[in-house]
Amino acid sequence: MFDKVLNEKIQGTALKKEFKNVGNKKMYIESYGCQMNFSDSEIVASVLSREGFRTTKTLEEADLVLINTCSIRDKAEQTVRNRLKYFQSVKKKYNKKMTVGVLGCMAERLKEKLLDQEKLVDIVVGPDAYRDLPKLVKEIEDGKKGINVFLSLEETYADINPIRLSGNGVTAFVSITRGCDNMCTFCVVPYTRGRERSRDPKSIIKECEELIKLGYKEVTLLGQNVDSYLWYGGGAKKDYKNTTVDQKKVWNFAKLLDEVAKINPDLRIRFSTSNPQDMTDQVIDIISKHKNICDYIHLPVQSGSSKILKLMNRGYSRKEYLNLIKKIKNKIPDCAISMDMIAGFCNETEKDHLETLSLMDIVKYDYGYMFKYSERPNTPAAKKLIDNVHEKIKQRRLTEIISKQREHSLMHMKKRIGKTYKVLIEGISKKSIKFYYGRTTHNATVVFEKGEKKVGDYVNVKIKDCTSATLIGEII
Ligand code: SAH
Ligand code: F3S
Repeated sequence: MFDKVLNEKIQGTALKKEFKNVGNKKMYIESYGCQMNFSDSEIVASVLSREGFRTTKTLEEADLVLINTCSIRDKAEQTVRNRLKYFQSVKKKYNKKMTVGVLGCMAERLKEKLLDQEKLVDIVVGPDAYRDLPKLVKEIEDGKKGINVFLSLEETYADINPIRLSGNGVTAFVSITRGCDNMCTFCVVPYTRGRERSRDPKSIIKECEELIKLGYKEVTLLGQNVDSYLWYGGGAKKDYKNTTVDQKKVWNFAKLLDEVAKINPDLRIRFSTSNPQDMTDQVIDIISKHKNICDYIHLPVQSGSSKILKLMNRGYSRKEYLNLIKKIKNKIPDCAISMDMIAGFCNETEKDHLETLSLMDIVKYDYGYMFKYSERPNTPAAKKLIDNVHEKIKQRRLTEIISKQREHSLMHMKKRIGKTYKVLIEGISKKSIKFYYGRTTHNATVVFEKGEKKVGDYVNVKIKDCTSATLIGEII
């Protein structure tokens, strides 16, 4: 949870997990980047398990090594490149027949380059082509090139039952949209993940019901821009205006949230990410109406300056964003709010930066994910704007933003001392086996002595103390 106030969200930690299904081929998978990538790796595991692959945590014994990658900032790509070089050395030393594949955003962005110029991998598969993996793996065995970076207008993997790799058996990701149509000028995602499309609500509800049967207690509905969810029978969101579908059959995000919340009052609902320009009053009403929808909204702002927001093509001004925050706080008084912020975007002056700091002082976010602007090739910003804020200034501004966020996070944590919260137990604390950790509705991590309780139980915890990242309490 400490990472909430550091800018480590995307670089992420590698996920190396094992699933137990029968088969004689071994697959090793690592995931980097956003939650969607971790969720996609569960789809990949499912697709390959049907072909007899089981996962291993031991890289050296794997027949197939897959890395699910992130392109959001240059640093994220460098991390992946270093990992790929390491895989090549393992391949040379232990298993010359090992197949190495790149999945996700770097696969889509770099395409054949990864195969031909960089020669780091055997297979390159973009985010919409995971169904093709078994075929590509076979083609490699036949000495062919394994590449599919086709972006789809329809693929949502709705019918694929993900193999849960996250491991706690209590919380799960459920993806509801893919791609993004927003075209924020700094962002590579619309190019790597394609056009926005939504998943059939029936399959989303079915997946949640199955998770409940398996003992899961919390789902996070995932998408690049969940508030833009729109089901009208399938297909790209951009094609909706050309259809004549009966309005009663159309689902927006508010309706989806409402229906998912009604499945079972014991199932906690979270969602991520909300783009402020798409969040409706209806969604805020639904959150306030259902006790099991968590009082926590991740509402990336990116900058406090309307000038910069316009250059970023975010679709809202500082004033509109602050009005939205006001609306949320009016309807859901104790709603926790977090943000993403970019320091040093093109043309950002000291005045713009001070507006970012002053916006933070007004909103007082509970958590923040903060980044230095990193120019991404072929994005609108790379084509039309100049990355003209000096690295040192970017770093100084980022440091100021992070330190302000630390103060605000600590302030929010402190105000929780003495209060009692319902906490879902998610696992054993890393610090001591005598303690559990879980989260409050506000997404604050709490550690407390285990007592007689088990993972997956809801408990009432009275908060006794805190750090800027963790609450410390006891079950009452
Ligand atoms: N809607 C997405 C946003 C993906 S990117 C989601 O589901 O989270 C996550 C965050 O990375 C963005 O909100 C932004 O703050 C940051 N980011 C994106 N592109 C960036 C870039 N070129 N340089 C620095 N930060 C960037
Ligand atoms: Fe990127 Fe903006 Fe979409 S940040 S993912 S283009 S909402």
